[in-house]
Amino acid sequence: MLSVDDIKTKPIPAHVAIIMDGNGRWAQKQGKDRIYGHHQGAESVRNVLETCGEIGVKYLTVYAFSTENWKRDAQEVEALMSLFIHFCHAEQDNILANNIKVQAIGDIGRLNEECQQGLYQLIEKTKNNTALTFVIAISYGSRWEISRAARLIAEKAKNNQLNVSDIDEDVFSKYLQTKQLGIPDPDLLIRTSNEYRLSNYLLWQLAYTELYFTDVLWPDFTKEELLKAIDDFQHRTRRFGKTNEQIEEKLK
Ligand code: FPP
Repeated sequence: MLSVDDIKTKPIPAHVAIIMDGNGRWAQKQGKDRIYGHHQGAESVRNVLETCGEIGVKYLTVYAFSTENWKRDAQEVEALMSLFIHFCHAEQDNILANNIKVQAIGDIGRLNEECQQGLYQLIEKTKNNTALTFVIAISYGSRWEISRAARLIAEKAKNNQLNVSDIDEDVFSKYLQTKQLGIPDPDLLIRTSNEYRLSNYLLWQLAYTELYFTDVLWPDFTKEELLKAIDDFQHRTRRFGKTNEQIEEKLK
């Protein structure tokens, strides 16, 4: 069994992003409703947050609610919003005590008033914390984020504040929410529940991220499962388009 000490002997991914999938199936297996699965999923979020702090991960981004999730049954959407509001209040002391900074990405304006308030309060109270940044992707969709960036850039160009010929990858990425908040691209993406998709999550930012898929359902994703994912990451060679020889040369 892997321990935190084992994991800490090798480089730790600075940014771990997670697609927390399988709450509904997990609940179904227990003969319970989907909402129960989401509640257990929130427990996994707490565990993973704690473990990331222990290991020294600097950024953890979780996909809490996608732009597509708005199409779910109204009852489920409402229950998820209540769960987020509860989480913001219930976890506040713990988050502050652990020097965690909270940030959010997504179309936050679509969330109900109470949810926005809970989120903004947590962001405000934790803004000076430095150990780990916990990013909640909520009402988030990558295509939404990229279209928003394109709109912001077009607006600047229209007002003669930006030359069209100056728009390159660097300039474009500055208009993504993650860059605007100072969040680096993820090193490791984890998706649970045996699904092999990105589901409109951080599409631009994941260009060179290592992908890890597991059949474990999110409510069963324990500390041990996270250590396994990081151990797997630590055995990869990241080439960023270069050859193995070039990477080895650089290490000499
Ligand atoms: C996907 O599982 C999960 C979600 C859409 C919601 C994720 C939310 C939580 C884990 C709740 C807590 C989060 C925070 C940040 C407090 P699914 O419902 O699609 O599962 P299924 O594919 O088995 O139906």
